[in-house]
Amino acid sequence: MIGFGAGQPDFPTPDYVVEAAAAAVHERTNHGYTAAGGLPELREALAAKTLRDSGFACDPSQILVTNGGKQAVYSAFATLLDPGDEVLLLAPYWTTYPESITLAGGVPVQVTADESTGYLATVEQLEAARTERTKVLLFNSPSNPTGAVYPREQVEAIGRWALEHGIWVVTDEIYEHLVYDGVKAESMPVLVPELADQTLILNGVAKTYSMTGWRVGWIIGPQDVVKAATSFQSHMCGNVANVSQRAALAAVEGPLDIVHTMREAFDARRKRIVSLLSGIPGVECPTPQGAFYAYPSVKGVLGKEIRGERPADTVALADLILREAEVAVVPGEAFGTPGYFRFSYALAEADLVEGVTRVGNLLSEAK
Ligand SMILES: Cc1ncc(COP(=O)(O)O)c(C=O)c1O
Repeated sequence: MIGFGAGQPDFPTPDYVVEAAAAAVHERTNHGYTAAGGLPELREALAAKTLRDSGFACDPSQILVTNGGKQAVYSAFATLLDPGDEVLLLAPYWTTYPESITLAGGVPVQVTADESTGYLATVEQLEAARTERTKVLLFNSPSNPTGAVYPREQVEAIGRWALEHGIWVVTDEIYEHLVYDGVKAESMPVLVPELADQTLILNGVAKTYSMTGWRVGWIIGPQDVVKAATSFQSHMCGNVANVSQRAALAAVEGPLDIVHTMREAFDARRKRIVSLLSGIPGVECPTPQGAFYAYPSVKGVLGKEIRGERPADTVALADLILREAEVAVVPGEAFGTPGYFRFSYALAEADLVEGVTRVGNLLSEAK
């Protein structure tokens, strides 16, 4: 079985990070409770890292350290939303987003962009979805699941639109360093500085430093909102594990070597997978410019006969591929857009080639 489902880099956490954590285990101060908002040293390092990487300047008091980017997403919505508030959710979206919004009492309002625009939504689409109840726009570039990266002008145009209408922006920048073809992941409140008072930036060490299991993320935002989110976190779970925070500190204070190494490996695999997928009849695959996912449309294959079956949707087609080709892909239904598959290319290149070749051979039987 070859799996294309992985949402994490297939590289180990750098040694110096592991060593910092090992040393932290033996330090008495890490054995007790610490400030709910995060270790002061870490919050300072995160402020410096953010200025270095995206150009956004903030004070450590504007940062809350969370249990991974995932908790940052939920806490952001729990803090911002009143029951019934609407959140514009750009689809294809990361599976956790609508669940977090709903759990926090909000209403996700889906705005869908397809392969014809490289999965990039426009201001016109956002404006068409805006109502009296629109409270937040959730933005994620580079995107999971499509790998799309919004160009500078479009980030700025969307930011200006949000500013004009008093809409909060929650911008998830967790894939900021995984970009290819010379593109840059732009930070919305850097391009539209006036927006900073109504923006929460979400980030984490998981993807940049291959640290998914350490569970460290953060929220950056206006002081009053971060204070409320910190209070919420203090009652929900208290501080993030101190050893993990020490590991994150070593990571963000250290070099970006690992992400550069990963980026090179991912880039080679990205080119390979796009070219292999594009050669399959009925499959259309825009070239992703970020993250480690390809998101081809397979609409051209749906409804056709393959090995005596006629899969009508991508859940059924993914099931057929799993049984007949022993390859696991994630159907677009998980991301709010049936008709697509997400292929993660966080796997060895030989497996990638073998897996996509098997899928291609099976789909080529469609008639
Ligand atoms: C877009 C996006 N944001 C946030 C996260 C959260 O990552 P973590 O909770 O591991 O920090 C993920 C993980 O898959 C993601 O894809």
